[in-house]
Amino acid sequence: MDAADISSDLTTVLYTEEQVHQRLAELATQIDEDYAGRDILLVGVLTGAVMVMADLSRALRSHCEMDWMAISSYGSGTQSSGVVRILKDLNTDIAGRHVLVVEDIIDTGLTLSYLVSNLRSREPASLEIMTMFRKPEAQSNQVEVKYVGFDIPNEFVVGYGLDYDGRYRNLTSVGTLAPHVYS
Ligand code: XMP
Ligand code: MG
Repeated sequence: MDAADISSDLTTVLYTEEQVHQRLAELATQIDEDYAGRDILLVGVLTGAVMVMADLSRALRSHCEMDWMAISSYGSGTQSSGVVRILKDLNTDIAGRHVLVVEDIIDTGLTLSYLVSNLRSREPASLEIMTMFRKPEAQSNQVEVKYVGFDIPNEFVVGYGLDYDGRYRNLTSVGTLAPHVYS
């Protein structure tokens, strides 16, 4: 039997592994400059952000620590409602810390806007957001995102941490799924 290759389930590759890493290197340089002399607490949102966290953190030259949150957003079907439940909270007290939230993708921004107000109430010294991908709708929302990898079209994408039904997170490139996968 031939080995299955999950990359053959993509119809379009939007970004290759090299393009993602190149963009992360640029963002890391900017973040290093912005945080010069300050330790960063990277807060990753499970599970999608694991790849971004691993690669961004290693591209940084600054001291950083990592912590994780898991959240689930209530809502019908694929629409995000902005009502969020914390499944796993941070291990770290973020009061007085320079917090950089690390996200895989922002769609409507509703999940993030809940997260940001929740984290702000814990009085960090600063709070910024980095996302690898951002969809058009996010820009009409209130949340200000300081570091954006790529603005992408309003399509469902997988790979580099992003899943369809739990799968495809381990694809190194990012793209759209072939119709036969959905049926
Ligand atoms: P909101 O709309 O609150 O939702 O910004 C963000 C969350 O929705 C998921 N999401 C996606 N997941 N491919 C995915 O694998 C996508 O194209 C996509 N668009 C949104 C994701 O969980 C994200 O955190
Ligand atoms: Mg996510």
